[in-house]
Parts: sequence; C-alpha cells; structure tokens
Amino acid sequence: MEPAPVYLDNNATTRCDPAAVEAMLPYFSEQFGNASSTHMFGAEVGAAVSRARKQLQGLLGAKFDHEIVYTSGGTEADNMALLSALETQEGRDEIVTSAVEHPAILNLADHLEKTGRAKVRLIGVDSRGRLDMEAYRQALGPKTAIVSIMWANNETGTIFPVEELAALAHEAGALFHTDAVQAVGKVPVNLAESAVDMLSLSGHKLHGPKGIGALYVRKGIRVRPLIRGGHQERGRRGGTENAPAIVGLGKAAELALEHMADERTRVAALRDRLEQGVLQRIGNCFVTGDPENRLPNTANVVFEYVEGEAILTNMNREGLAASSGSACTSGSMEPSHVLRAMDVPYTAALGAIRFSLSRENGDADVDRVLEVLPGIIGKLREMSPFWRERENHAANPSYA
Ligand SMILES: Cc1ncc(COP(=O)(O)O)c(C=O)c1O
Repeated sequence: MEPAPVYLDNNATTRCDPAAVEAMLPYFSEQFGNASSTHMFGAEVGAAVSRARKQLQGLLGAKFDHEIVYTSGGTEADNMALLSALETQEGRDEIVTSAVEHPAILNLADHLEKTGRAKVRLIGVDSRGRLDMEAYRQALGPKTAIVSIMWANNETGTIFPVEELAALAHEAGALFHTDAVQAVGKVPVNLAESAVDMLSLSGHKLHGPKGIGALYVRKGIRVRPLIRGGHQERGRRGGTENAPAIVGLGKAAELALEHMADERTRVAALRDRLEQGVLQRIGNCFVTGDPENRLPNTANVVFEYVEGEAILTNMNREGLAASSGSACTSGSMEPSHVLRAMDVPYTAALGAIRFSLSRENGDADVDRVLEVLPGIIGKLREMSPFWRERENHAANPSYA
C-alpha cells in the first residue's frame, strides 16, 4: 500500500478545518441573505458576521470588535494599511519596511516608489534574519508615514520584536503596521496591550477558508478605504460581505485559540525532531532563521550542492509536499529574497527547503521525511558536478 501523502507546506496554506466548513455551509443556501439587509433574510446573516468579528477579536485580544475590518485576505489588508497611511499622514511620504517582507508589501512599496508616491526605506537583516535595529532607528524621521514590519517571516519563521519596533515608530510620529499573516493562530497576540496600530491576517493560514482576511485598525487610527463602494464595514471596505467565508474565519479563529497552547508545544516538538533528524542524517545542510525567536511550526533547511526545486520534485514523487523559497524568473531559478537578505550564499540559497507544520501533522509525517529525504539528497548530490568535485578533493587533496 502506498504511504499517505504528507503535507508540510502549511505556511503556503492550511486545510480548512471541517468544523469551519460545517459552520459556513448554511450561509451558502438557507442563510443566503445580504448581511446588510434589515429584513429577516439578512438579519441572521448580519448577526453571524458580527459573531465572527467577536471570535476574531478573541483571538487577537483586541479591545473592540469594530477594530476589525474584513478584507479579501492578507494581501488586501497589507495594501490597505500602506495606502491608507500615505493618505492620512499629511506631510509624510516615507515607508519604512524590511527587506524580508512578503511580496504583498515589497511589490506595493516598490510600485509606490516607482510611481513617485512614496519613498521607501528598506531595512536589512542579519544572518539569522533579525532586523538591523541601528539602521531601523536611523531610517525613522519626520517624513515617515508608516512602518510595516512583519510579525513573523513566512520562509524562516523568524519573529520580529514588534512592540519595540512600534514604540520607536511612534516616537517618530509614524504609524506602525505589522503583517501578522503567519503569526496569527500560531503564537499568542494581545492587541489590547499592544502599541501596534494596524495588523493584517489571513483566513487560509489558520485553517480557515481562502479569500478572506482582516485588517485590525486600533480605535482612533484614521483609515481610508482601499475598496470604495457601499457602507459595509463602517465605510472602511465597500462590497457585500462574504458571509460564508467570514463565518469560516470566525470559527477558525475560535479553534485556533482553543488549540493554541497545546499545539504550540506539540508542533514545536515535531518540528525540532524533524530538524534534528535531518541534520543528523544528512551532511552539508544547515537551518536558517533565528533559533531563539521562531514560529513553532517552521523549519527552513538549506541543503548545499543541490537545487531546492529538484528536491521538491523528488519529494513530490514520494508523496511529500513542502516548498522552496526559490522562484523562476525569466527562465532561471532565483534564490529567495529572504535568504539573500540574510547573506546565505547564492548557490546554497538555491537549495533551501521550507517545511511548515500544523496541528494536523503527527509523528508519522516526520518519520516519513526522515526515511525518504536522505536518499533523495544523496541521489541528487551524486548527479551534481560540484558535489563530485568536492568529494574528489576530499579524497585526494592534491587533486586540482
Ligand atoms: C507573510 C505573508 N503576508 C501576506 C500573505 C498574503 O496573504 P493572502 O494569501 O491572504 O493574500 C502571505 C501569504 O503567503 C504571507 O505569508
């Protein structure tokens, strides 16, 4: 019998929890009304949308449920935060962000700079992916409209000191936004006690549905809608509410909160066993990211002398799904911008594999990786001229 496929790509997306799917179903059929309608068809839907907002408020530890604005996902929330700040922060046109953000921030910032709408100050990171605090302090100033630094990095799992960063941003009179798409549901968030002004999250990263997310906007912070239209979301986001997805997101938030304490330790232990097992069984590989401040579910391992894409193809044949940070640009492979910012050498960075776990993974999944991966890496290295060169050199140091 073929072994069951193993999914270790939960930072790309998670399976929607069956309980969230079940909660959503009535809102496609019996409860089809428009959440904004005041008649009986809309009333229950409107109430469901409000209940979901409370569930999300619980997960975020926010003071008020109306601090949450539903969006179509993390990308829209990120876009809304930056564009809104440029409009509301009169006389300020600079964005301070990091070199390791998700493209939802980096590509927007780049576009704003190229079209002359903002000046972007990109802050670098060290070899563990930690922000260069000195450069950060220096970048802040009277022109800074907004700082956007992610809560946790999607490739390495490195967690950023958002409270300290937010306090420094405020000293400069800037707003502080964090892309917490990879953090919400995995690590505790308590916005009532936080200096964060805006925070983005996404349903499909926490066992909720795709195409739904939210921007948290602290009470008192002015925002401008990104999507203009009707008066939904208190005029902050036009468009009929996606009630089924909102209900699914609410349920996913409730479940994440319920499972968080247990799952954080259990998933972190699985991740650590996976990492240790790989390092013990396979030579010339290393783990990236900040070992002290990392998401519990993420392991990014660089395998030298092999290409990540080839590893993934071979893993896929064995029923194992993970991801590499490399991207195909103009026909050739480009290593991840995150690993490059961390100064991982170009060729080594091409061999990075991200394993991202979730509460749905168990010991058998880790066992399967440890059983299969050493053979895959060994086979690929035998085919690599660089590896053979290295082996020849080790066997015969005078070999040139
Ligand atoms: C850090 C981060 N920000 C933003 C996004 C985009 O979220 P969405 O897919 O909901 O638009 C992702 C998704 O990969 C992410 O990892």
